[in-house]
Amino acid sequence: MNLPIRPRRNRRTPAIRSLVRETVLTPADFILPLFLHEDEVDTPIASMPGVTRWSLAGLVKEAGEAHALGVPAVVLFPKIEDPLKTPDAAECSNDEGLVPRAIRALKAAHPTLCVITDVALDPYNSDGHDGLVRRDERGELQILNDETIGVLCEQALCHVRAGADIVSPSDMMDGRVGALRDALDAAGFDQVSILSYSAKYASAFYGPFRGALDSAPKEGDKKTYQMDPGNAREAVREILLDEAEGADMVMVKPAGPYLDIIAKVRESTTLPVAAYQVSGEYLMIESAAAAGWVDGKAIALESLTGIKRAGADMILTYYAKRAAEWLKDR
Ligand code: PBG
Repeated sequence: MNLPIRPRRNRRTPAIRSLVRETVLTPADFILPLFLHEDEVDTPIASMPGVTRWSLAGLVKEAGEAHALGVPAVVLFPKIEDPLKTPDAAECSNDEGLVPRAIRALKAAHPTLCVITDVALDPYNSDGHDGLVRRDERGELQILNDETIGVLCEQALCHVRAGADIVSPSDMMDGRVGALRDALDAAGFDQVSILSYSAKYASAFYGPFRGALDSAPKEGDKKTYQMDPGNAREAVREILLDEAEGADMVMVKPAGPYLDIIAKVRESTTLPVAAYQVSGEYLMIESAAAAGWVDGKAIALESLTGIKRAGADMILTYYAKRAAEWLKDR
């Protein structure tokens, strides 16, 4: 054939392929979500095979190992004991609570590790919603926006007093980023960043996570605050609002089924974009791999590459530590 243009030339050898590769994963892309509890023992999480709910000591060890592999950051998710869950979620700003103690332990053991905390009320609130709840005259549950924001600010301040580097509001209340920025600045924490869960969808992919923390809503769903999976323009609207309110970084969540949103958001802002490969995405890969149906390592790395290629600068993933290991011996 007289064919002067042959794209296959750029794929001929591993060396040439590595020269022309557009997207390269590195451990520095990853944020490791870590579950913790008050217990002294590390417990495997039934709804998320391969993921552990850590004691404080286990948490410090696991974070240290991930950090040594090049993972720059962790984000903390506490399982709060039932008696401490109340309608006002007061435990979320207890300076002696589980999360602030964990932050102090992590920063003492690993000063260069970036510690991110989740700001939302669902682990603390007996209703299992991200905000405060009230029943209206018609008997329907309302998730209160403005009343919740003051509590979120107290929660964030508690985390940063303990040494958190970045606070990450995942609650989807309107106006919380601006309120958090004001509260942090007024308390002298102008160097603490806000990574906003800006475009967080009401997703069935969070199911295993809620099992891990026993944090599913007791009644109703999260559709009046988390976004409708059919909407893309609305994600841009949320991103631009959070940017205007002072977010330092924005997030799209989930990641894999929302690659178009990641790409759209990437084009709409100059802020760093994070994407969260959530528990259901992880579990689908893990269960297919456990059944012997797919090559789990290859599928996990390909999924993470797809998320980065779509436009994510950083990826929250339960694979962070394992993927860092895989990348090392690749
Ligand atoms: C709670 C929160 C959720 C996740 C992160 N923070 C669950 C939810 O919104 O119900 C989900 C993470 C995952 O599924 O891996 N604010």
